[in-house]
Amino acid sequence: MAEERPIRLLAALPPALMADLQVLMAELVPDNPHGIVLAGITYEGTTLEKDAEEREADVVLLSPELPGLNLEVINRLYHYPDRPILTIALVDPATDWAQTMEEAGAVGHLNRPLSREGIGRLARTARVSLLEAHRFRASDKYVPQLSPRVAAVVDRGGWMRQAITFWSPTGGVGKTTLATNVAAALGVMANKRVVLVDADMNKGNVHLLLNLPQEGKNIYSLATAFLQEGRMTTPMAQNHLVPYYVGRRPTGLRVLLGLPQQWMAARDPLAKEQGLRFFEALLNALRPAFDFVIVDAGQTYNNPVHYAALKGADHVYLVVNSTVTSLNDARQALRSLRDAGLVEGDRVRVVVNKYHPRHGIGRRDIQKALDEMPILQEVAMSEDEAATVALNAGEPLVLHDGKARTSRDLMTLAATLYPPLVEIRRLQGGRRRGFMRLFS
Ligand SMILES: Nc1ncnc2c1ncn2[C@@H]1O[C@H](COP(=O)(O)OP(=O)(O)O)[C@@H](O)[C@H]1O
Ligand SMILES: [Mg+2]
Repeated sequence: MAEERPIRLLAALPPALMADLQVLMAELVPDNPHGIVLAGITYEGTTLEKDAEEREADVVLLSPELPGLNLEVINRLYHYPDRPILTIALVDPATDWAQTMEEAGAVGHLNRPLSREGIGRLARTARVSLLEAHRFRASDKYVPQLSPRVAAVVDRGGWMRQAITFWSPTGGVGKTTLATNVAAALGVMANKRVVLVDADMNKGNVHLLLNLPQEGKNIYSLATAFLQEGRMTTPMAQNHLVPYYVGRRPTGLRVLLGLPQQWMAARDPLAKEQGLRFFEALLNALRPAFDFVIVDAGQTYNNPVHYAALKGADHVYLVVNSTVTSLNDARQALRSLRDAGLVEGDRVRVVVNKYHPRHGIGRRDIQKALDEMPILQEVAMSEDEAATVALNAGEPLVLHDGKARTSRDLMTLAATLYPPLVEIRRLQGGRRRGFMRLFS
């Protein structure tokens, strides 16, 4: 095995922690026994990311008291495209910063004041965590994320914050699968602020695809609170959301879980006028706090919640399959929606899911069956059971197996909302570099 290279450390400490910085500089002299090179010092949160890249840091020793620090930078550095850059926090033990920093993605922490022993621990933690992070990055389980800097570079066409409702008049066509995967692509891979709302009043099952516990807060508890308080606020809505983690890492995705029991749909908080008012208020409360609101709506459009989801979204992604029944249902539904004034302009976009040329119904036939409505995107039928395997693993397919044909279609679908996502494939291609640099 080749000899290990020294770890490059960036110290990101405010000027007030000069005493700790001096200990660090005294210990990390050239050829020190810790195997760490002090690659640079940063006093400013706003330049931290750029400094870590330019100094080719492997690890950042980060004080939460750094001026101008945004804790999201920890997660972004971890997903830095060339290699993972890890964060170890330097905290005052009298505070609860250690926990906060680790929740934000730091791999460990040291207590102040810094000592020689502390630096020894830092070296050991850094070495073990780096090996782990590089192995993870090289594995199939790693899901790359776009850093805002990369996103800004590749973001040519611009994008709009919006609310999208996935809907079809037929069951089993893939509404939940598409809504969940698009939400995961946007919220986990692109790291945008995304809320996925399980608004299927027939049967909520977003929780199954994301492996989230269904008890506790959900759309019914929020609707009940709205009925009791007579109003809806953004914090109130946020209080009923569940954060989505990948391992221990936070993501940009939050979920409003669906109904645990079907009878709840018929109760006061969600029925009739009240259900309509609730969902309108919900969309209004969520929009300011999120880049994307993704709604999984149930098939009956005469349900008040589904109706409000169709009416209130910026775009309705109508999901159809290449089967005669699905297309007939969709055509009839489109006509009814048009009569109800719900399909004005180009609000509806058609997605053909489980598409397979062998079904004998081509693009042209589908368009014709839908009164010449253009098709936005086809999503391939996964023949290799990839969709089922991902479902059983409790992970959206785009996170479970990014290479599957269906995953790539789902990513392209998500890129209709956020174009930089098409760059993810490029990032997936280059992810072994850092591993080689450090350990070969
Ligand atoms: N592109 C696809 N390829 C293969 N199976 C799929 C695909 N999309 C969805 N499925 C499967 O079809 C079934 C129904 O999907 P679901 O998203 O629950 O539909 P809906 O929400 O419209 O009722 C699920 O078992 C799902 O795994
Ligand atoms: Mg569903």
